[in-house]
Amino acid sequence: VDEGHGVKGLSELDIKTLPELFIQPREKRLDMSKVVHHESIPVIDMSNSEDLDVIKMICDAAENWGFFQVVNHGVPLRVLDDVKDATKRFFSLPADEKKKYLFKNSPTKSVRLVSSFIPEVDKVLEWKDYLSCFYVSDDEAFAFWPSVCRDQLLEYMKESEPLIKRLLKVLITRLDISKLDETNKPFLMGSRRMNLNYYPKCPNPELTVGVGNHSDVSTLTILLQDETGGLYVRKLDTGNWVHVPPIKGSLTINIGDALQIMSNGRYKSIEHHVVANEHENRISVPIFVNPRPSDVIRPLPQVIERGEKALYKHVLYSDYVKHFYRKSHNGKDTIDFAK
Ligand code: SIN
Ligand code: FE2
Repeated sequence: VDEGHGVKGLSELDIKTLPELFIQPREKRLDMSKVVHHESIPVIDMSNSEDLDVIKMICDAAENWGFFQVVNHGVPLRVLDDVKDATKRFFSLPADEKKKYLFKNSPTKSVRLVSSFIPEVDKVLEWKDYLSCFYVSDDEAFAFWPSVCRDQLLEYMKESEPLIKRLLKVLITRLDISKLDETNKPFLMGSRRMNLNYYPKCPNPELTVGVGNHSDVSTLTILLQDETGGLYVRKLDTGNWVHVPPIKGSLTINIGDALQIMSNGRYKSIEHHVVANEHENRISVPIFVNPRPSDVIRPLPQVIERGEKALYKHVLYSDYVKHFYRKSHNGKDTIDFAK
């Protein structure tokens, strides 16, 4: 899977059985007996996002589900379609072009093409390729992001900003913080990363994972997925798994560990998992809204001043992220680092 061919290259060889390296132990696969079909994550219409009902739905979803979908969210549907096309264009490049973005070749630390999750440490690989782009500035992106997709990704970065701000504003207001301003904005949305995920068709999807069970280390994640499906979310109350159905024009929002920590556990970052698909290639494009690497994250003072006991200690965000990337996906265990 090296030299730019990736898992996609392997999938295109039309192999009939899954290579050994991708066969996950049973406990890492999605337990189909725990998948429930009679429930689904909230879908919230954001057309009147100042409405008290809508505000309540967003906060309730962040507290009880940690995952929800939004429609009429203000990001033009044309922009979303362009991002999906751009992602397909990137992964359709010849291996020789793509390999320029492998860690060992990439001229910048901010762009990296990877197969599996962390190939250096994953003992068993995940059935996925991804290009990870840390957003520093437009200029840096112009210099280093792949030109076949750069403009569309940057447009999406820009067009999704009002939605990100709106969601964060709603969520912090419930924590008695009235404004997204210079005192809290850096912690809540000081940096962003965009991943282009490509999950090729897989000969034995039941034996492997697209992405293993994990929670995100972001404050919020905004996820664009195509029409294939395969993302499952773990319910807080029962531990059962619920599918996140592709809804045309929707974006999926989830709370990450950083916001769970800052809200002192009020908002929940939730375990999720992607299964591989036998018949379709799947793409998804998450934007991870993060603190800055140099920020110290901790339960927000406004929350603790109300008399709550702090459930998490202070941690440097870059250390937190390093902790996440030190081993393969393993549920929600990164957050123990802040306990
Ligand atoms: C992820 O959570 O890492 C990916 C989610 C997705 O592809 O739907
Ligand atoms: Fe995730």
